[in-house]
Amino acid sequence: MLVIVTGVSGTGKTTLGSLLAERLKLPFFDADHFHPAENIAKMSAGHPLNDENRIPWLQALADRLVASELEGGAVLACSALKNPYREKLNVSENLRWIHLIGSRELIWERMLARKNHYMKAGMLDSQIATWEKPQTGFELDISGTPEELLEASLTYLKSQPMNMKMGVIGMGVMGKSLALNLAENGVPVSLYNRFVAGKEEGIAQKVVDENPEFSNMLAFEDLQKFVDSLEKPRRILMMIPAGAAIDSQLDNLIPLLEKDDLVIDGGNSFYLDSDRRVNRLKELDMHFLPMGVSGGEEGARKGPSIMPGGNAEGYAMVEDFLGRISAKDKNGKPCVTYVGPGGSGHFIKMVHNSIEYGEMQVLAELTHLFRFGFGCTPEQVSEIFSEWGKGELKSFLLEITADLLLFKENGELLLDKILDQAGQKGTGAWSLTTALEYGIPYSPLAESVNARGVSGEKAMRIAFSKAFQHEFVKVEGLLEEWLPKIKAAYSLSRIINHEVGFRLMKTVSDAKNWDLNFNEISRIWTNGCIIRSGLMETISVNYADTKPFFEMTGVKDQVISGRKSLAELVGLGLTHGFALPVMSAGINYLLGRITAESSASVIQAQRDYFGAHTYQRKDDPSGKFYHTEWNS
Ligand code: 6PG
Repeated sequence: MLVIVTGVSGTGKTTLGSLLAERLKLPFFDADHFHPAENIAKMSAGHPLNDENRIPWLQALADRLVASELEGGAVLACSALKNPYREKLNVSENLRWIHLIGSRELIWERMLARKNHYMKAGMLDSQIATWEKPQTGFELDISGTPEELLEASLTYLKSQPMNMKMGVIGMGVMGKSLALNLAENGVPVSLYNRFVAGKEEGIAQKVVDENPEFSNMLAFEDLQKFVDSLEKPRRILMMIPAGAAIDSQLDNLIPLLEKDDLVIDGGNSFYLDSDRRVNRLKELDMHFLPMGVSGGEEGARKGPSIMPGGNAEGYAMVEDFLGRISAKDKNGKPCVTYVGPGGSGHFIKMVHNSIEYGEMQVLAELTHLFRFGFGCTPEQVSEIFSEWGKGELKSFLLEITADLLLFKENGELLLDKILDQAGQKGTGAWSLTTALEYGIPYSPLAESVNARGVSGEKAMRIAFSKAFQHEFVKVEGLLEEWLPKIKAAYSLSRIINHEVGFRLMKTVSDAKNWDLNFNEISRIWTNGCIIRSGLMETISVNYADTKPFFEMTGVKDQVISGRKSLAELVGLGLTHGFALPVMSAGINYLLGRITAESSASVIQAQRDYFGAHTYQRKDDPSGKFYHTEWNS
């Protein structure tokens, strides 16, 4: 939105303009600062400017307005006394005029009240004489207070059908937070939530009403009106549940859209569905961006990590806006990048979530072992995690786990009141089925999905724990002696989780010719997202497609030094009654992958024995297949 506040000197253009800019979250410009040096020299010498002098000044202002519109808008205070001057500044249909009008007496009285006022009565009179009645815009009587003028201006601006820069569909937690984030970053945004009588009524309007500090938001319940409110080509972000809801929203939306419009799916959709939707919109000459968004409610509101893929032209239409609302990495660069074609943005978000599951599960396993094996209090566990978080092991998930271990409700630990049945929405399981489809070993992260499944069988767990008299056994050894090993085991377990996820991403990227850039992907995961961590920073700097992940600088040493610790810790946990699915799958996976002589010879022999499936021989490098009559 562009707003120009006009009026003769002394009407308070700068005061109202600054207040408006603050409320609209837009930059403020004072037209006096755009005069070329010749004009400044002329005015300083006490000579009035003529129309010819004003041409370069008006051009500079018009250029500024055009640039500002691309950046999301601006408020300009400018005398613009004559209609021809105003025409030169009319650069956009999104431009609104507010003309300040007052009697000569009132203006003069206010000028005299100003400190350092320099104006002579004659100058004011000449400005009033030059002033032409505007042909368009809002004429505002300046007799009120600045606050009253501000409110009147905002009411006027709201009444104007404005071409908003972006539309957000779905006012759930994430949609609302992203819409507010856009508004705060100067992107005028239309909000839409469907109307369901008795269930969902006035939802978008409620968001607008509850956030009066953002005057650049409009609410809709009518999809057509919502679409009509948007600047063309339109940019629409859908923040609604994954699955059938996306297709049905597209079915409703597409007939209202035109060529070159852009639709973004910011939910956790399955990447193959996203592939299909990119093609569907492409056939209609429209753009579709399947876009992963990580960081939960707080991230979406204050700076998420954003993973858009799909149509590159569509990305260019929102690159600036996404950069503004995203988290920033340690060098100040936005945590957003164009990931790649098709559903690749949703694909990497899916794997992100799978790593998230693994990271969460390892922390859950350790918390249990510390508390019920080593007899630590929740405060002690929190202390250990906080200590680890001060160094290389720092991560958002470690930090929140240290925090939640201290959270009390009515003086009691809330954690112990939370039912031990973990929920899931599907991204972890999709990663696992994708890994199976591509033949990629995935056991450590697969176990994090399985562990949530097992946790869901609460009644059976209770029954079995009685039937098999299961109890945790207290660890005899000293915690201080174990602590360095546990730390090394935790560190290695995390490395394994990441290696598994990155291997799947690389394999699928190669198979689908996506050419994903993993330094860039890990960079946008260094802030804003749930798996942000010191390890992710190491990966973003050291990852190389040409080198195995485990041999990466900053990783290899820990694979070597942590191996024994992880094996010992898993052994300790298992023999003391603790299920450690991700950590034990991790050490098995690692050992399996670094074993030169594996047990698979036995499998091949068995296969050939019972089914004549044949085998290859170590002593025949030709690769020929052999069969043996094992019973002869
Ligand atoms: C994020 C999260 C977010 C959500 C997931 C996981 O990156 O912000 O991953 O997308 O937490 O949907 O949800 P489930 O644990 O319920 O599968």
